[in-house]
Amino acid sequence: MANKIRWGIVGTGGIAHKFAQGLGVLEDAELTAVSSRTKESAEKFASEFNVPNRHIGSDELACDKDVDVVYIATPNPMHKDDTTNCLMGGKAVLCEKPFAMNSKEVMQMITCAKEKNLFLMEAMWTYFFPGIKKVCQLVSDGAIGEVRLIQANFCLRSKWNPQGRVLNPQLGGGALLDVGIYNIALAQIIYGAEPERISSMAHIGETGVDEQGSMIFGYKGGAMAVLTCAVQTETAFEAAIYGTDGYIKLPHMFFQPDRIIVKSGQQQEKEIKFERLGNGYSYEAQEVMRCLRDGEVECPAMPLETSIAFMRTMDRVRQQWGLVYPMDAV
Ligand SMILES: NC(=O)c1ccc[n+]([C@@H]2O[C@H](COP(=O)([O-])OP(=O)(O)OC[C@H]3O[C@@H](n4cnc5c(N)ncnc54)[C@H](OP(=O)(O)O)[C@@H]3O)[C@@H](O)[C@H]2O)c1
Repeated sequence: MANKIRWGIVGTGGIAHKFAQGLGVLEDAELTAVSSRTKESAEKFASEFNVPNRHIGSDELACDKDVDVVYIATPNPMHKDDTTNCLMGGKAVLCEKPFAMNSKEVMQMITCAKEKNLFLMEAMWTYFFPGIKKVCQLVSDGAIGEVRLIQANFCLRSKWNPQGRVLNPQLGGGALLDVGIYNIALAQIIYGAEPERISSMAHIGETGVDEQGSMIFGYKGGAMAVLTCAVQTETAFEAAIYGTDGYIKLPHMFFQPDRIIVKSGQQQEKEIKFERLGNGYSYEAQEVMRCLRDGEVECPAMPLETSIAFMRTMDRVRQQWGLVYPMDAV
């Protein structure tokens, strides 16, 4: 492996831009290639980020000898094929959340990575923030006693665009896969388990996807998580973790926190603030590069079993809603 880890990016949309900016602050990372559906878009992205190699499609990028690891930044239904194309070309892969459309696709991606003995990880960037690591440490140190309840809201109002990836079922739209996954990730981080019981409700809008949804998860011993997600209704992006002896609040952007509020036992509330490396996407990229340098094919902090758990939970929720995507039939 070269001194610098050489990245390729598939897709040139919103998150591809942010991730490229995130890579820009890492001295040991180099963005060497980009692929797009069109030559024009690849050229435009490449000139913006000074990327030497431009490709049409992930299968072409997969053959690029100047690339060690590929970041998949396409809409949800393209994740499986873009990921497997790159794995088949011998590349390590970091694929955006949600990992795929359903558990079947996730298992196909994982099987491919295992057969090729290559690194694969879901880009659930939340796991790598110092604020989240601190929350985990506080919980495991018993600072708030036994966790009994998690509340999390990730509800936004996106621009009305039935053709765009957020509302279009053909592009895997809907609140659960887009933002609800962050609520599920927070509950999974804290409880370390999938819910035993799920009660949920959604409003399926005129485009055929969930515009908003509410979920109540039940865990062993009666612990719960109450989670809401939306793409046409905005709330504060806040979360709280309540224990038998205190609580931790994540009052702002809980999925990428820059501060938390802790109340432990009889002590006063305490605010803890966190620095941020780059735009926050740098943390997950750093961890991927550490894994590659250490020869690890799975990230211990974000293992594939966790991605399976996210998707299995979302499949169960969708089943309650009767929300079926065209890709589920394949
Ligand atoms: N981790 C995070 O914070 C975060 C934030 C936002 C989104 N995401 C995830 O990142 C992925 C992409 O989201 P985004 O917001 O970047 O979407 P976007 O702005 O629509 O960009 C997606 C890109 O994918 C490519 N693409 C390939 N096939 C496409 C198709 N049939 N229709 C539209 N675009 C297609 C396009 O690039 P070319 O035209 O160059 O082919 C497009 O620019 C999603 O899975 C989303 O869940 C993650």
